[in-house]
Amino acid sequence: MAFSILGTGSAVPSKVVTNSELSIFLETDDEWISSRTGISERRVLTSESLTDLAAKAAERALESANIAASELDFILCPTLRGDQLFPSLSSRVSGRIGASCPALDINAACSGFVFALDVARAYFAAGQARRMLIVCAEAMSRLTDWTDRSTTVLFGDAAGAVVLGPGEGPLALRLTTSCNEEWLVSDVPSGNSPFAPYSPGTFLRMNGREVFKFAVSAIDKDVRLLCEQAGTSPEDVDYYLLHQANLRIIEAARSRLALPPERFPTNIQHYGNTSSASIPLLLDEQVRAGNMQKGQLLFLSAFGAGLSTGSCLLRWEA
Ligand code: UT7
Repeated sequence: MAFSILGTGSAVPSKVVTNSELSIFLETDDEWISSRTGISERRVLTSESLTDLAAKAAERALESANIAASELDFILCPTLRGDQLFPSLSSRVSGRIGASCPALDINAACSGFVFALDVARAYFAAGQARRMLIVCAEAMSRLTDWTDRSTTVLFGDAAGAVVLGPGEGPLALRLTTSCNEEWLVSDVPSGNSPFAPYSPGTFLRMNGREVFKFAVSAIDKDVRLLCEQAGTSPEDVDYYLLHQANLRIIEAARSRLALPPERFPTNIQHYGNTSSASIPLLLDEQVRAGNMQKGQLLFLSAFGAGLSTGSCLLRWEA
């Protein structure tokens, strides 16, 4: 026995930043950004904290699952960085929602949601949890260099959450990590130890072309592997909820599988790449739009820094 998704929630900052607004201070334009990435606008944190956003997404997920925070056995927060290094984002979310269970942050970059699902799977399988909350929350606007047009235009801030209970899922799940310290990197500042050289840290840097190629082949490989493992075929999957990093990556993965676009819902147009929050944000949107039916097959797939990948095939049980 493992898990099923009992409820979903999400939250985005109120501030919308359009491509045209970016072109006021960056040498870029709406045409380049939308044709190369599919992104029209993104949300950016202003006065809210990331904890505010994460707690809002968590509360919405709890409400849709009809579960009280006091019933939770564990909280997992995939994030690249919370509002503070410590206490962890998950501790702060736990305080905001009134939970009293253990809480842990996970950093698997954009693949964090699927990594958290795998950790949850192990807890459910071991009988160590009956109710778990996963909240992915990312403040990408704090990690990118706002003078670098090649990266800043791609990202946005958001939080997405799910509440899990015992169930039949997942049918198959696969994680990979292969160390690459060049293609997608950000360095933390050193401390002021008199025994080590000082380094101010860096903003996010990326080799977009290499990550693009890596992503397309990783998705394709995982779809075939996981479908085979679960004794099903890519044609049987109702929805592919892929990491929203670039519409052209999604389109390339779709065309390799030769499946219709309706099976690949997207929202990157409005939010950009929100790292680990990307898939739960899209999932929540689909659930609230009434697009998920009990028994449907979903394929989730993410990729990101590490390099990491995480894919999961599951049947919608709610
Ligand atoms: O969560 C996982 C993280 N990342 C990803 O998934 C990213 C994957 N990669 C990508 O999405 C694409 O590679 C990008 C969108 C990042 C870049 O698209 P591209 O088609 O690979 O463009 P490019 O990097 O080859 O750049 C083409 C040109 C360059 O100019 P030159 O050298 O040809 O003169 C860039 O300087 O486009 C220029 N450029 C821009 N121009 C206008 C780069 N960024 C911009 C910009 N506006 N914002």
